[in-house]
Amino acid sequence: MNKVTYLLTNLLLGCNIVFALPFWKRADPSYVNQSDEEIIQSVVGQLNETLKNKNKCTGCTDSLEIGKNLALQRPDLVPNAFTEWCVVTGQGSNGSCSLTYGKSTVTDSSTGSDVADMLTLINPTGYDGQLYCHYVQNGKCPKPQTPVVDISDMWPPKAEEHTVAPVPSFNDTFNVLHFSDFHIELNYTVGAEANCTTTTMCCSIHSSNRVKHTGKSSKEGKWDSFYESTYNDNLTFSKGPYVDVFANTDIWVPATSFGNYQCDSPELLVNSSLNSAIKYAKQNNLDVQFTIFTGDIIAHDESKYLTLETAMESEEFIFRDMKTNLGNIPVYPVLGNHDTYPYGEIAPEQYGFANKFTWNENLMADLWQGYGWLNFSEAEYARKHYTGYAVETELGLKVISLNSNAWLRQNYYAFINSTEPDNFGQFKFLIDELIQSEAINQRVWIVAHVPPATGGLPLQANVFAQIVERFSPSTIAGIFFGHTHLDQFEVMYAGSGGNSKTIENVINNAWIGQSVTPFVGNNPSWKYYVVDKKTFSIMDAHNMYAKLDSTYSNNGEEPKWLYEYSARSAYNITWPLTSPLNATYWHHVAQAINYSVVARQTYNNYAGRLSPSTPNCAKSNSCTSDYCFVSSFTVDEYDDCMAALPKH
Ligand SMILES: *[C@@H]1O[C@H](CO)[C@@H](O)[C@H](O)[C@H]1NC(C)=O
Ligand SMILES: *[C@@H]1O[C@H](CO)[C@@H](O)[C@H](O)[C@H]1NC(C)=O
Ligand SMILES: *[C@@H]1O[C@H](CO)[C@@H](O)[C@H](O)[C@H]1NC(C)=O
Ligand SMILES: *[C@@H]1O[C@H](CO)[C@@H](O)[C@H](O)[C@H]1NC(C)=O
Ligand SMILES: *[C@@H]1O[C@H](CO)[C@@H](O)[C@H](O)[C@H]1NC(C)=O
Ligand SMILES: *[C@@H]1O[C@H](CO)[C@@H](O)[C@H](O)[C@H]1NC(C)=O
Ligand SMILES: *[C@@H]1O[C@H](CO)[C@@H](O)[C@H](O)[C@H]1NC(C)=O
Ligand SMILES: *[C@@H]1O[C@H](CO)[C@@H](O)[C@H](O)[C@H]1NC(C)=O
Ligand SMILES: *[C@@H]1O[C@H](CO)[C@@H](O)[C@H](O)[C@H]1NC(C)=O
Ligand SMILES: *[C@@H]1O[C@H](CO)[C@@H](O)[C@H](O)[C@H]1NC(C)=O
Ligand SMILES: *[C@@H]1O[C@H](CO)[C@@H](O)[C@H](O)[C@H]1NC(C)=O
Ligand SMILES: *[C@@H]1O[C@H](CO)[C@@H](O)[C@H](O)[C@H]1NC(C)=O
Repeated sequence: MNKVTYLLTNLLLGCNIVFALPFWKRADPSYVNQSDEEIIQSVVGQLNETLKNKNKCTGCTDSLEIGKNLALQRPDLVPNAFTEWCVVTGQGSNGSCSLTYGKSTVTDSSTGSDVADMLTLINPTGYDGQLYCHYVQNGKCPKPQTPVVDISDMWPPKAEEHTVAPVPSFNDTFNVLHFSDFHIELNYTVGAEANCTTTTMCCSIHSSNRVKHTGKSSKEGKWDSFYESTYNDNLTFSKGPYVDVFANTDIWVPATSFGNYQCDSPELLVNSSLNSAIKYAKQNNLDVQFTIFTGDIIAHDESKYLTLETAMESEEFIFRDMKTNLGNIPVYPVLGNHDTYPYGEIAPEQYGFANKFTWNENLMADLWQGYGWLNFSEAEYARKHYTGYAVETELGLKVISLNSNAWLRQNYYAFINSTEPDNFGQFKFLIDELIQSEAINQRVWIVAHVPPATGGLPLQANVFAQIVERFSPSTIAGIFFGHTHLDQFEVMYAGSGGNSKTIENVINNAWIGQSVTPFVGNNPSWKYYVVDKKTFSIMDAHNMYAKLDSTYSNNGEEPKWLYEYSARSAYNITWPLTSPLNATYWHHVAQAINYSVVARQTYNNYAGRLSPSTPNCAKSNSCTSDYCFVSSFTVDEYDDCMAALPKH
């Protein structure tokens, strides 16, 4: 199997100051013959001791040991004990403590049951614990050195013929739509507070501002788009009844019909974006063969307002809206970190969690097959593999979809056996599919939500990069993510930055699709690709957006969806018309971003779609990390790049 070289010495990094063992370490306490309350008090007492440890890292891993001992004997008491500890020691409010550690139920989006599952299998003092205490416990441990993993025995050696990409046909192309991050807010309410302070996301019935508002809203007489409008089932817009929002003088800034920069998408905006794509495609005679959707459906609403039912409802609404608008154009979707319940979780089947979260896999398989996007066998695969699948499009491209929660830092289950490269079996699936495609010279697109370098775990990011390197440039013709809400890209270099970021070392690149949700501070947007029919290489990407702030005072009319820019012309790179926008092209753009303020400004203008929050890159300290972002494909590479930036 896999050769995992585990760098033991590095694991103790940051935890090498050994204090006298606390009392509970003399022997793990046994909880036989104690009442539940006695056990909880005993555990809280032990956990209290860990906070006294001057070495925060050891204190944190000690708390995991105590938790593991409890989880192995009484997993049912983990939520109670940890919630109480969190509350009595003031580590969070009652609400945030119970959201983190409380028992998960269908009406309570708490993760305590997942924490308990994790504790039963985690290695508290090894890499698992260090990693957890770094990423989940706010850097209590320094980032542990990433173990070196070599998975090259999972594939045959690369043949000479696979060291170059196939040459595109000249000018024989089709189109693909790319949508990402809808984040539908089902409780979006016209007239609700868009200037909220008690929750991160505004415009829902729960939004409020701590400072009481009195008198006239500053928007009165200026904003007028307060209609409860809809798109009918025949896809026509109809302006609904006007809402007299200013009658409520408690509101600082009332939410308008199509959304606000502080808020997730009302369904009206979701429909408008899809509708605009279909209209545009018709008017411009696009040959749209399929659509990719790179995930995130559920809103950034506070977890306490989310239930299993609203999670399912959000997913059902989004896929229905896509189906209604896109008709016979198939959609190849992935799920995002928000598209589960509770947030961020999926559980590895091989460690005994085969029945967790199956509601989601079954719902997705049913919907995607029902809408004709996957056939029976593909849907069966999605049902059993965290919603991941591989599908062959009509023109012969293979699209492989992965569930990025397998590498997500907020997924508790990802900290179990975290030195293993492939606990979810997704990488083996990906590799097997790539081997099959390579053997018949079939090209492949990979679709997932979270870019591993941005929110992924370091080891899994390295594993993914190794796979991409092995199957580039001949087999992998495109990699697509979402998640950041921004319109971005990433260039990948050989050895993931172990080698220098030169043109000779360029391997592949990822396209990060921008969000429809305006949250936070972005204009709603989508893109479409011009794709070569023979090689499925991307010849260009065109971006469309709506100026959200011009919908505030347009008397409730539909947003105008405008042409924003083309990836081929945006950066003034001299590039042959016959060449695809491949990694070499994006290397040139990355270099421009590194060396020129003008290019950095262009990148930022487009990242947020010319929104009012676009930073001014001419100011010092602005936009300085952009080069690290666009030139890193793994977590370690990004961290190293950031650490090397000049300090201001
Ligand atoms: C638990 O209580 C039972 C009955 O009182 C006793 O037989 C047993 O030895 C106790 N076990 C432990 C581990 O104390
Ligand atoms: C744990 O610490 C908190 C706060 O310091 C204290 O209120 C509580 O009584 C302690 N509990 C136990 C069981 O030691
Ligand atoms: C928090 O929970 C404790 C008990 O766990 C309770 O005594 C206290 O009233 C709660 N505080 C708030 C603000 O709800
Ligand atoms: C995963 O972790 C568990 C618990 O620590 C251990 O028993 C098991 O052998 C590990 N599995 C692998 C494949 O490492
Ligand atoms: C590609 O074909 C289109 C129409 O088929 C034509 O308008 C365009 O000029 C061609 N582009 C090139 C570079 O030949
Ligand atoms: C909307 O708010 C109501 C009332 O708090 C809540 O019951 C419901 O779950 C919320 N729905 C969504 C989708 O957030
Ligand atoms: C969005 O479109 C769907 C499908 O056509 C429709 O059922 C739904 O009512 C629409 N909602 C809004 C707010 O436009
Ligand atoms: C679309 O449906 C609405 C409401 O059902 C109706 O008023 C309108 O006439 C229809 N438009 C077209 C073009 O069919
Ligand atoms: C938003 O609310 C804050 C108080 O929390 C207030 O100072 C500010 O003026 C408000 N902004 C607008 C545009 O009303
Ligand atoms: C589904 O499509 C795949 C190609 O993507 C094909 O190999 C498979 O046979 C199809 N299954 C069914 C049940 O049609
Ligand atoms: C990208 O395309 C150019 C021109 O066709 C080619 O020279 C270069 O090798 C390609 N880069 C990669 C990484 O395949
Ligand atoms: C590209 O060229 C145009 C026209 O000269 C210029 O306005 C723009 O700033 C340039 N953009 C970049 C990124 O160099």
